[in-house]
Amino acid sequence: MAEPLWTAVDQYITEMLVPSDAALDAALEASAHSGLPAIQVTPNQGKLLYLLARLQGARRILEIGTLGGYSTIWLARALPDDGRLITLEVDPRHADIARANISRAGLDAMVDLRVGRALDTLPRIAAGGAFDLTFIDADKQSIPEYFRFARKLSSRGSLIIVDNVVRDGRVIDAGSHDPDIQGIRRFNQLLAAEPGVCATAIQTVGAKGHDGFAIVLVTV
Ligand code: SAH
Ligand code: DHB
Ligand code: MG
Repeated sequence: MAEPLWTAVDQYITEMLVPSDAALDAALEASAHSGLPAIQVTPNQGKLLYLLARLQGARRILEIGTLGGYSTIWLARALPDDGRLITLEVDPRHADIARANISRAGLDAMVDLRVGRALDTLPRIAAGGAFDLTFIDADKQSIPEYFRFARKLSSRGSLIIVDNVVRDGRVIDAGSHDPDIQGIRRFNQLLAAEPGVCATAIQTVGAKGHDGFAIVLVTV
């Protein structure tokens, strides 16, 4: 649960550093209006994704979990004109709203939205060159499998970012029966044992409560 102070500070940071923007505001508005769950990244987190993609000089981005395309828009805006982003979404209703939001943001040509279970669509993503950045943000029980795919679709220097790896601190409950928590914990074990990567995780508090993300640099 988000403490009111965390939300107020997120609002302050956003007012100071993340100016409002017609396409992003419209995406949030359309998503809320259509009844999508408000689980997209916060504006300051969206800008962090944008900054990381720019730091990375990303030309190819993979996103797993589109929802209404809010994080998609942030990430796609970091791409050069000939950059490409593939985003994967299982829910056709989410995908329809995302398509409209992405289109309104003028990013149609850059974004390739594929509808289906990510575990089904991922194997069909041809090795058209590695992804410079992958954002994993779909169902949490499958994070280990998504990470394996992301690792295969990466090359030296690629970045993999995984959202929601703390979940109000429930990540440390080894006895948890929640498949999401189990997925995150299996992912951490996999990550710890994975050769050729350098990784950490960061806890966050804010408008979405206490959570966190993992950042993985592929080094080999
Ligand atoms: N990245 C978005 C939020 C994604 S929310 C943002 O920050 O703006 C998680 C999304 O993953 C939801 O839209 C959900 O429908 C989708 N999802 C859940 N399971 C999935 C699966 N197996 N394959 C693909 N997408 C999935
Ligand atoms: C949930 C999913 C997310 O990707 C997120 O950032 C927050 C919450 C959820 O399914 O509850
Ligand atoms: Mg998330």
